Amino acid sequence: MTSRDSGHLFRQVYEYILTGIERGEWKAHHKLPSIRQLADQFQIHRLTVFRAYQMLKQDGKAYVKEKAGYYVSPGDPKEEAPEYAGSRPIAASVLLKNDLSEIQRLPVVYQFSQALIDPNLLPNLYLSEYVKKVFDTYPKLMGSYSPVEGDEELRQVLCRYLAKHSRIQLTEGEMLITTGATQAIDLLSRTFIRPLDVILVERPTYSAALDNFRQQGCRILPVEIHPDGYDLERVEMLMKQFKPRFFYMNPTFHNPTGYTVPSSQRKRLVELAEEYRCLLIEDDAFHEMYFEEPPPQPLFSYDSEGWVVYLRSFSKYMAPGLRICAVAGRRSVIEPLVTAKSLTDNGTPLVNQKIFLHYFESARMQQHLDKLRIALQIRKDIMEEELAAAGWNWVSPKGGLNLWVHLPKTIDMKALLAESIRQSVSFVPGAICDPLMEMQSSLRLCYSFVNEGQLREGIKRLVNIAHLSP
Ligand SMILES: Cc1ncc(COP(=O)(O)O)c(C=O)c1O
Repeated sequence: MTSRDSGHLFRQVYEYILTGIERGEWKAHHKLPSIRQLADQFQIHRLTVFRAYQMLKQDGKAYVKEKAGYYVSPGDPKEEAPEYAGSRPIAASVLLKNDLSEIQRLPVVYQFSQALIDPNLLPNLYLSEYVKKVFDTYPKLMGSYSPVEGDEELRQVLCRYLAKHSRIQLTEGEMLITTGATQAIDLLSRTFIRPLDVILVERPTYSAALDNFRQQGCRILPVEIHPDGYDLERVEMLMKQFKPRFFYMNPTFHNPTGYTVPSSQRKRLVELAEEYRCLLIEDDAFHEMYFEEPPPQPLFSYDSEGWVVYLRSFSKYMAPGLRICAVAGRRSVIEPLVTAKSLTDNGTPLVNQKIFLHYFESARMQQHLDKLRIALQIRKDIMEEELAAAGWNWVSPKGGLNLWVHLPKTIDMKALLAESIRQSVSFVPGAICDPLMEMQSSLRLCYSFVNEGQLREGIKRLVNIAHLSP
């Protein structure tokens, strides 16, 4: 294991113990498990556990008794006071945070942090026509639940669509409709991860997925993504050595980099998944958002043994508000997910699914997509034109919604973000997309949300702030 891996691991142990303390499993002044116990239990080096304990000590969560071991600190006396006791629900996880969402909630004019499409480019008006049509066709629509796995008619249509456009063969029993890919990621994470399991995640990655996985208390091992894909030898080594539960990937117009894993690697990745029994979670949220050429076939289309689960969200380019995502997988994967979904919301609202279905099947939908691709490419070109003045580096993407930009190491990213927000510009700092929380010199800029004039003005401001920073 590299020092980076063990560096990340000690945080997992730290969080594990802290969670136990917060849940009251270990109370004030009670003895915590010994370093040797934890190292044996989790099959990790004693030094890793030692580091976690040192950090708990530093944070005032544990104290040490000479030759006796570590004990739980009494904590903040205010929290112990009777009027506070029991007034706060016990959080099941220490990581109740979603960094991305916190930045995105800030009210700014030059919004480059949200990977969303400008609502003016989406078919809002046309959709309202379909709403009426849908209520006429299904007068009892609001009076019934959707089946947990999703509306049958919608799943049939989506199966046909995926067969025609992405060479994906499946029956509607192998598809689940979720409330956005966000819910699919959450269901997968809760269904397939147990604390201290190992999972593989791209570096960098979609930060909300990362935050979700962290909540499960798993060990996250990074797989670097490059403009030409992954280092497959490293992927194989990680699968062989660590037996990860799954590899979460976004191989097409990847968020945040925009890179696409080439077709030559896709088949091999599926073979590796089969060989090492590691599920591949293929998140394909940007599949239709290409500029010149459609992307390579999804990894899922190479899968015959059931080691790939495929997430196709339709949020981005149709109607983020409808929150429709199709999850495709073999029955062994879909069945537990349907159970998890039944416990979560018992089905995505039927009205959303029917409105989506009727628009999705219409001729307008294809016209909308064709126009949208042009509009997105224009915005990407404008952003690149404005950034050219800064002398920063990035690889121009062939699709997706973001630029992944590398700044000189001398720029302090935290200070840049704080000042940018003060001047009404937001972006995503690279560190929150990095499983190792490094990548301090990179940032993600979304070019699809603000209009062309705001794009120019906002990037000018950002470049100016960066150049004026000490
Ligand atoms: C890679 C990736 N997956 C999933 C999502 C969330 O999709 P949804 O809006 O369908 O929940 C996003 C949103 O930015 C994303 O970038």
